[in-house]
Amino acid sequence: MKHVTPAALGLLLISGLVWAGDLPQSLRGATPVSDSAPPPEMAEYPDKGKALPRSLAHQPPLIPHKPTYPITTARNGCTGCHDPKRAKMMKATPTHSSHLDEEGGLKNTYYLCKQCHVPQQTVAEAAE
Ligand code: HEC
Ligand code: HEC
Repeated sequence: MKHVTPAALGLLLISGLVWAGDLPQSLRGATPVSDSAPPPEMAEYPDKGKALPRSLAHQPPLIPHKPTYPITTARNGCTGCHDPKRAKMMKATPTHSSHLDEEGGLKNTYYLCKQCHVPQQTVAEAAE
C-alpha cells in the first residue's frame, strides 16, 4: 500500500468537511433534535371554485379548498357536499358520473377521494 503523507490526510479531512457541509438539510432545519421545531407555515387554499384549470382532459380537478374533511369507514366528509343529491344545495359540483353506480351511490373504488384529487395549496418551500 502507498504511504499516506500527513498532507494528503489533511486534504482528505478538509474535503470530508466540505462534503459534510453540502449534506441535504432535514425538514426540521437546523433545530437540534432535543428542541421542538417551529410549526411549518399554514397552507393557503384558493377561494372555492378558483383552482387552476385542468391541464389535460379527464384530469381529476384540483381541490380548491381545505382537504381535511374526514374520510373514514363510517362517513365520507367529501360527499356531504359533492354527493349529487346534495351538491346543488351546497353549491358544489356533483361527483363525476363515473364515480357512481347504477343506483346513484358512490362506487367503493372512488371512496378515497384524495387518492386522485389533490388540494391546490400554496406552501412555503419545504426543502431546497
Ligand atoms: C362544505 C362543503 C364541501 C365539502 C365538505 C367538500 N367540498 Fe369540495 N367543493 C365545495 C365547493 C363549494 C366547491 C367549489 C365549487 C366547485 O368547483 O365545485 C368545491 C370544489 C371541489 C373540487 C373542484 C371541482 C371542479 O370541478 O373543479 C373538487 C375536486 C373537490 N371540491 C373535492 C373535494 C374533496 C375531495 C372533498 C373532501 C376532502 C371535498 N371536496 C369536500 C364544497 C365542499
Ligand atoms: C380513482 C380516481 C378518483 C377518485 C377516487 C375520485 N375521483 Fe373525482 N374525478 C376523477 C377524475 C378522473 C375526474 C375527471 C372526470 C372527467 O372529467 O372525465 C373526476 C372528477 C370529479 C369532479 C368534477 C366533476 C365534473 O363534472 O366536473 C368532482 C366534483 C369529483 N371528481 C369529486 C370527487 C369526490 C368527492 C370523490 C370522493 C368521494 C372523488 N371525486 C373520488 C377521479 C377520481
